[in-house]
Amino acid sequence: MESFSQLARQRRSHRKFTSEPVSGEDLKSILETALRAPTGHGSRQWHFVTVTDPDKIAALSEVRDTRSQFLAEAPLVIAVLGQPESQRTWIEDGSVAAVTMQYQAQDLGLGSCWCQIRGRFKNIPTGSDSDIPLAVIASEPAQTVSSEQMVRQILQIPDSCSVLCLLAIGHPAEPREPLAESELPWDRVHSEKY
Ligand SMILES: Cc1cc2nc3c(=O)[nH]c(=O)nc-3n(C[C@H](O)[C@H](O)[C@H](O)COP(=O)(O)O)c2cc1C
Repeated sequence: MESFSQLARQRRSHRKFTSEPVSGEDLKSILETALRAPTGHGSRQWHFVTVTDPDKIAALSEVRDTRSQFLAEAPLVIAVLGQPESQRTWIEDGSVAAVTMQYQAQDLGLGSCWCQIRGRFKNIPTGSDSDIPLAVIASEPAQTVSSEQMVRQILQIPDSCSVLCLLAIGHPAEPREPLAESELPWDRVHSEKY
């Protein structure tokens, strides 16, 4: 294992993956780090749905008009869910768990990328013969469908859970250069006062 500093210096998002699956052992390590992650009031109310079924992953890749299509290449997708009714910090808890999983994946030589679902929508052209269930479309204004609702439908997620994001994880198809020291916005860091 390299040091955390080295890991953090190398970190980049990966959206292109080889077809090699993520091993069960690696998946377990990734999930274990999420289950050990800090949560507000120690609530630990997140849920995680692991997805390897190519048909489901293909469907998930189409829940947004843009910036979700890369999911289709991933051998593994993990949906990060929270329970807003009982978990006041569900967004923070989910974000901490998601990023922790991303670093664990990287430590295992895997690549990952976050796909935002919370607050995102998909436009369905009027008269579209899309196979998105009408019940989902009808609950949204015009022909705009909540990406979250679509994910909920695909993964049979109960209404009590909200979907924060989907993590694509796999073996990187190509290396990515780390950010150069000169690209770091140190001017965003303030000392003692803004
Ligand atoms: C909260 C959050 C939401 C993101 N949503 C998406 C997304 O929907 N689609 C995507 O391709 N990348 C997404 N990303 C990845 C960012 O685009 C990426 O981190 C950023 O461009 C910086 O690149 P790097 O991670 O390689 O340094 C998201 C990252 C974060 C932290």
